[in-house]
Amino acid sequence: MNNRKLLLENIDIQGIESFDIYRKNGGYRSVEKALKKMSPEEIVEEVKISGLRGRGGAGFPTGMKWSFLAKPEGVPRYLVCNADESEPGTFKDRYLMEKLPHLLIEGMITSSYALGANLSFIYIRGEFMYILHILEKAIAEAKANGFLGKNILGSGYDLELRVVPGGGAYICGEETALLESLEGKRGNPRIKPPFPAVKGLWGCPTVVNNVESIAAVVPIVNDGGAAYAQIGIGKSTGTKLISACGNLARPGVYEIEMGMTVEEFIYGDDYCRGIANGKKLKACIPGGSSVPILPHFLVCKTAAGEDRLMSYESLSDGGFASGSMLGSGGFIVFDEDQCIVRNTYNFARFYAHESCGQCSPCREGTGWMEKVLHRLENGHGNMRDIDLLEEINKKIEGNTICPLGDAAAWPVAAAIRHFRAEFEWHVTHPEEAQKRNFGLIQQVVTA
Ligand SMILES: Cc1cc2nc3c(=O)[nH]c(=O)nc-3n(C[C@H](O)[C@H](O)[C@H](O)COP(=O)(O)O)c2cc1C
Repeated sequence: MNNRKLLLENIDIQGIESFDIYRKNGGYRSVEKALKKMSPEEIVEEVKISGLRGRGGAGFPTGMKWSFLAKPEGVPRYLVCNADESEPGTFKDRYLMEKLPHLLIEGMITSSYALGANLSFIYIRGEFMYILHILEKAIAEAKANGFLGKNILGSGYDLELRVVPGGGAYICGEETALLESLEGKRGNPRIKPPFPAVKGLWGCPTVVNNVESIAAVVPIVNDGGAAYAQIGIGKSTGTKLISACGNLARPGVYEIEMGMTVEEFIYGDDYCRGIANGKKLKACIPGGSSVPILPHFLVCKTAAGEDRLMSYESLSDGGFASGSMLGSGGFIVFDEDQCIVRNTYNFARFYAHESCGQCSPCREGTGWMEKVLHRLENGHGNMRDIDLLEEINKKIEGNTICPLGDAAAWPVAAAIRHFRAEFEWHVTHPEEAQKRNFGLIQQVVTA
């Protein structure tokens, strides 16, 4: 497999976070090309041709989303970058923004021009305050060099870019909750439709895109959508940032070409170099805490015996019976010593805490799941509890305004589907369950 880098190519260059060094290494070419040689429609077309799919988790085609943007006369349009990144196991956007702030700023300028936005926002997770300062410095540098503000590069195009700290809640990453929060309200998701492309920020047409999606617009405009589409496999084009954590010999953030085998990613010398401490692989959650867990025998091979690939299609091959999802690329690996019940409880606790409380099935259901899993994990549960979890799951799934409910239900359902014996063991061996030292999953940001 080739090892092309479209986003992180220059990450190791000393001082690349400064405007001058970034510019010397080819930075801001996409802005020059877009503003001097391309119409906004041509850029949207290139993004469509690229096949880029949203990197925030859902994988919706970016070009298609952009083409849905309503364009009523006299009404402002907005581009909002979703930099809330709160999904457990996902830390790629943080890495990109910290190390390559100008790549995001460049992507924001080029994308804002394509969408006809004159005021754009980066909504960044409140805990990333140090990155907010990095981005603000990069914005000031870009402005001082004529890439932001009035009449950018003499093109007549104006753009103001603001960085806004998030409300400190996972739900504020959901795009409509994010817009509510950006408007200064409590971050509760909105009922869709209308979608943000029609009625978004302050009721105006708005595109919300993930950090990585916006950064990917830079190579797409520089080299053309067709060149981007040649990388990858099928409908999973281009490269993808994967944040790999858990019991890996070399966890970290990697840029991979879509279509690489999962086996190469876990065991390859250029990537994670296998399971830490010579242990065996037990399970993997390939796309962040919201996606189904895969038992070891479904990680590198699909149920049909094919190689499992790092792509939207291959990771979901087999549906929820034997597949998972690429999601946000939060790749969490468990070795043979890890307890799936404990991990499931840990995630359930997170979702119960983060449910905004607007929809009863999610507000009540996540709380019940947390309680039931707590007693199972601590050796106070019974066999009926396992079925009860499945029942609660069904009541939450599909019955909420936003997908947080699904995100809370799927991991529990998958854990029981693939590791029911482990849940039962906690019931039949209560004292051992209490005593067991499960260890903690390492979460290391860089290799
Ligand atoms: C509970 C919840 C949290 C989310 N958090 C994020 C996030 O932190 N970052 C992100 O880009 N998308 C997040 N999303 C997905 C966004 O709603 C939206 O689909 C995404 O920002 C669109 O960008 P994309 O098309 O470039 O992927 C979240 C969704 C849900 C339901």
